[in-house]
Formats: sequence, C-alpha cells, structure tokens
Amino acid sequence: MSERTLAILKPDCVQNNHIGNVLDLLLKAGFKIVAMKMTKLTREVAGAFYEVHKERPFYGELVDFMTESRVVPLVLERENAVAELRKVIGATDPAEAEEGTVRKLYAESKGRNTIHASDSAENARREIGFFFAESEVIANG
Ligand code: RTP
Ligand code: MG
Repeated sequence: MSERTLAILKPDCVQNNHIGNVLDLLLKAGFKIVAMKMTKLTREVAGAFYEVHKERPFYGELVDFMTESRVVPLVLERENAVAELRKVIGATDPAEAEEGTVRKLYAESKGRNTIHASDSAENARREIGFFFAESEVIANG
C-alpha cells in the first residue's frame, strides 16, 4: 500500500550542494515527491521537531546545526515509504552506513548527516503536519 513519509535535507546537504544528488537518489529509489519546500528553521521549530531528544547530550548541538542554514523538507510517497526511506538513508553515523546509502555517500559526520527521515508511520504524519498544510501535499499531480 502506498504510504507517505517526511524527509528533510539538512543544512550540510544544502551547504555542500548535494540537494540534486540526494533528490536523484530518492527518485531512483522509487519515491514520488508529493511536496517540497526550502525554509530556514527557527530554534523553536527545530527544538520542537526533535523534542523526543530533549534530554540527550547532543540536543543543543542538533538544534544549532538544524538552524545553521536552509533546509529542504519533502513529503515522499511509495509503497512502505517509512521503512524504505530509512533503508535508503542508512545508519545515523555515516561510518556505520551501508555502501550506496545517502549518508554513506554524502554525510560529514554522525551529527551532520545530510538527511532526516521519519521513523514510524505515526511520526511521519506528525512531521508532515509540521511543515505542510493539507493543501500543499499534492495527491494526484
Ligand atoms: P533523524 O531523526 O535526523 O532522521 O536521524 P536518526 O533517526 O538516524 O537519528 P536520531 O537518533 O533520531 O538522532 C537525531 C539526529 O541527532 C543527531 N545526532 N547526533 N553526536 C551524536 O551522537 C548524535 N546522535 C544523534 C544526528 O543529526 C541525528 O540524525
Ligand atoms: Mg530520528
């Protein structure tokens, strides 16, 4: 069944001019882009988005990084999108990511790791709602 998930091309991806390469890889992996924008996160939005990590030692660094420069939130659609996207992005730490994954190819480090992906269908719905109004997610375009 077709499913949706949220990805964010993170500040390092934008700074290192990897937007095109990463989008190409996602399209070749069978994802349809059903919504996309470029935006700069405020500390409030980045902090709320990663609220689940609030007590973790890397939280401050994560909010600093995510607000450093522009990001590209995307809604992606395909069968089993949540699990498939996690496979395509690879492990959090690029040193542990499999060959051919987005993070293996483009991430600078465990913190500056190019792309975010929702980790469950429930979080995908919450995270899509963070960035996109219903009317911005194109169903049959
Ligand atoms: P994401 O949520 O961004 O898709 O990443 P993830 O599921 O693979 O990893 P998660 O555990 O949710 O961590 C969120 C983001 O926090 C940064 N991080 N830094 N320095 C560190 O030890 C560390 N650990 C996590 C990364 O940017 C990670 O993607
Ligand atoms: Mg995560």
